[in-house]
Amino acid sequence: MLSAKLKNITPSFTIGISTKVQQLKQQGIDIISLSIGEPDFLTPEAAKEKAIEAIHLNKTKYDAASGLTDLRKAIQNKLLQENNVSYELDEIVVSNGAKHAITNTLLAILDYGDEVIIPKPFWVSYPEMVKLVGGTPILLDTKKENQFKATPQDIESVITDRTKMIFITNPSNPTGAVYTKEELIAILDICLKHNIYILADEIYEKICYTPSFTSIASLSSEAKDITITVNGLSKSAAMTGWRIGYTASNKELAKAIASIQGHLVSHPSTISQWASVAALTECHDQMQEMIRTYKERRDLAVIALNKIDSLSYIYPDGAFYIFIDASALRDKIQWTDSFSIEFSNMLLDKARVAVVPGIAFGMDDFIRISYACDTNELLEGIRRIQQFIENL
Ligand SMILES: Cc1ncc(COP(=O)(O)O)c(C=O)c1O
Repeated sequence: MLSAKLKNITPSFTIGISTKVQQLKQQGIDIISLSIGEPDFLTPEAAKEKAIEAIHLNKTKYDAASGLTDLRKAIQNKLLQENNVSYELDEIVVSNGAKHAITNTLLAILDYGDEVIIPKPFWVSYPEMVKLVGGTPILLDTKKENQFKATPQDIESVITDRTKMIFITNPSNPTGAVYTKEELIAILDICLKHNIYILADEIYEKICYTPSFTSIASLSSEAKDITITVNGLSKSAAMTGWRIGYTASNKELAKAIASIQGHLVSHPSTISQWASVAALTECHDQMQEMIRTYKERRDLAVIALNKIDSLSYIYPDGAFYIFIDASALRDKIQWTDSFSIEFSNMLLDKARVAVVPGIAFGMDDFIRISYACDTNELLEGIRRIQQFIENL
């Protein structure tokens, strides 16, 4: 009796792994989790204080569907100062996390059967979100020598008259690859030529270790018009549980997104929105400190990985993940349907390290580790992986 749309929906791999890790830890088993997709830092104090103040000031009623004016002003200012794009307040909609911002956008744009290009490897939820709203995900093969970043040639090869949108995740989850300005301009040209929207998922934009990060919407006024910039506080301010994300888009789309959101959820919790105002206006230093720490861990992790001959990886310039190519081990273990699931299961059962199988991101030769965890745990986790592989 369930909707036909659910037939092809895969439950979230990452949530499934976290549940298994929690169960093992509760049994007292010493597991190192390198599968986590959220910061190990605490939400900055100023954000928490602002939320408590909002409660005491009874800021607890319904508000605008598109989000608090104060928060949209803070986002508007951030987009101008940090990303070099000027948005009007009514072009910004605050939602329940980036996930919800993306879903609202898909609902606003897609008709049944419309195609959305999703470069591989992709963040786990994109294809499922597209399917849930009746669209068709078109998974795009990309090349390892190009750090799995989509090129205009890759994109043009799959465009049809049903293509409505492309996802560009920058920096990428799972690879941490960052597009250069020139690469983005080339992609933009193709999208303008074929009249395709760009969903620019910039949720990891602050966690970027090169100075070269460019927001697609900043490239030109045409770019701004066809781009829906998605961002939020989950990763940059260690606020995953507060559920605040946003879209910045052209006015027509923003109006549609706000209208959809108004009917479905009204708006995100006002308390979380007040916390986010403080995060954006008062917590710059704490965020920079987190980014410094991620960079230190990235540097240590790649040194440790370089000692494992049978593994290679995409050098990460952003986010807090490393996408590791384990294809040299395909013949060393027994597996039937999926190499990466079997390898990850073995790492969990035998090496006591949790990683995410690459198949979750559309690439079965890989596993993803996260360095959003204590540095000693990270290095011990990689040491255990090395030892496990040496004993194969
Ligand atoms: C690329 C990407 N986009 C969006 C999200 C969702 O973020 P939020 O927690 O704000 O919904 C994630 C979370 O893992 C992500 O990795």
